[in-house]
Amino acid sequence: MTETVLVTGGAGYIGSHTTLALLQAGHDVLVLDNLCNGSPEALRRVARVAGRAPRFIEGDVRDAALLARVFAEHPVTAVMHFAGLKAVGESVREPLRYYDNNVAGSLALCQAMQSAGVHRFVFSSSATVYGEHAPIPYSEATPVGRPTNPYGRSKLMVEDLLADLAQSDPRWRIAVLRYFNPVGAHESGLIGEDPSGIPNNLLPYITQVAVGKLRELAVFGGDYPTPDGTGVRDYIHVVDLADGHLKALHALGQHTGWNVWNLGTGQGYSVLQMVRAFEDASGRRLPYRIAPRRAGDIAQYWSDPAKAQRELGWHARRGLPEMMRDAWRWQQANPQGYASS
Ligand code: NAD
Ligand code: WQD
Repeated sequence: MTETVLVTGGAGYIGSHTTLALLQAGHDVLVLDNLCNGSPEALRRVARVAGRAPRFIEGDVRDAALLARVFAEHPVTAVMHFAGLKAVGESVREPLRYYDNNVAGSLALCQAMQSAGVHRFVFSSSATVYGEHAPIPYSEATPVGRPTNPYGRSKLMVEDLLADLAQSDPRWRIAVLRYFNPVGAHESGLIGEDPSGIPNNLLPYITQVAVGKLRELAVFGGDYPTPDGTGVRDYIHVVDLADGHLKALHALGQHTGWNVWNLGTGQGYSVLQMVRAFEDASGRRLPYRIAPRRAGDIAQYWSDPAKAQRELGWHARRGLPEMMRDAWRWQQANPQGYASS
């Protein structure tokens, strides 16, 4: 069945890759993005790869009048909600901005959907909701913990809001997707991650060191209780993640109410393994030094992805070599991100 999907935050990193996957699967896409951290160039490139364009509406998910208009004017059948702020450190400094954008934004969107009679919803959550003390690997049966920062708590609040909504009205079909660590780029090298300023996340930091924009990688902590002392995470290729969204959307045909799926590979890699894998893929040596631990970091975690495999028929296909190759291709072709074009 062809859907008309409203993709909030579709001009951002994960939203642009998912918009492309939706178009390639034959769906129609309406992107709503206020461009606070996204780029219209990303959507032009998505159109180039897909051979057809998503419709773009510049605006904010907290704008109730705009949302009412969007639902009135377009035959939206489902919503994928990526729009939000995601910088953990910034959320500690500006909690109100994060709760407003992430929680009030999701609330406004759900209200507009309810009024419009649209009840199929896919939400970008995060493994951060498992908190600090969950046993590894994290499965969906693992109780959520207390996230260590306002960003993480905003995700948990929205998960709870959605669970209450699903309880209140059986028409809702909700997929809460808990992402592990999304990395990489589309293999065309045309779309990828374009962080503003100095990257917070590991892989964009590595690729910016490799192109000479940054001097060296600071490895945050060399004394964790992990095999090589550095932090371990479950990195997932963004194209696999995008495919997981498509599978989740389709699965909402059989799954009513509130559903949660982890999107990860089930495999943890350390920071130093990431450095080596990048060096292998790029043929460059990466300067790094061991630095103090970063406040709030957890030593290690990775996903149990079995539920998504079982219920969505989804698993991550791309390994570390593909993640590194594609991140590097994107960075080399676009040293200034979308501003290069
Ligand atoms: P991103 O910043 O690249 O994309 C988010 C997009 O939303 C941007 O284009 C931004 O302009 C837009 N946006 C933000 N607030 C908006 C608003 N109020 N109204 C309209 N548009 C708005 O981030 P991303 O990495 O693509 O993340 C997408 C989603 O996935 C976010 O909700 C994020 O919290 C979640 N997530 C990301 C990661 C990650 O590591 N990237 C991990 C887990 C979950
Ligand atoms: C990965 C590993 C660092 C940078 C964050 C959010 C999480 C989710 C994904 C949105 C860790 C180490 C990093 C650097 C380093 N986001 N590192 N030097 O912290 O696992 O997750 O992004 O939902 O909520 O917390 O990702 O890429 O920042 O770090 O050594 O310059 O790399 O310590 O072990 P993280 P990350």
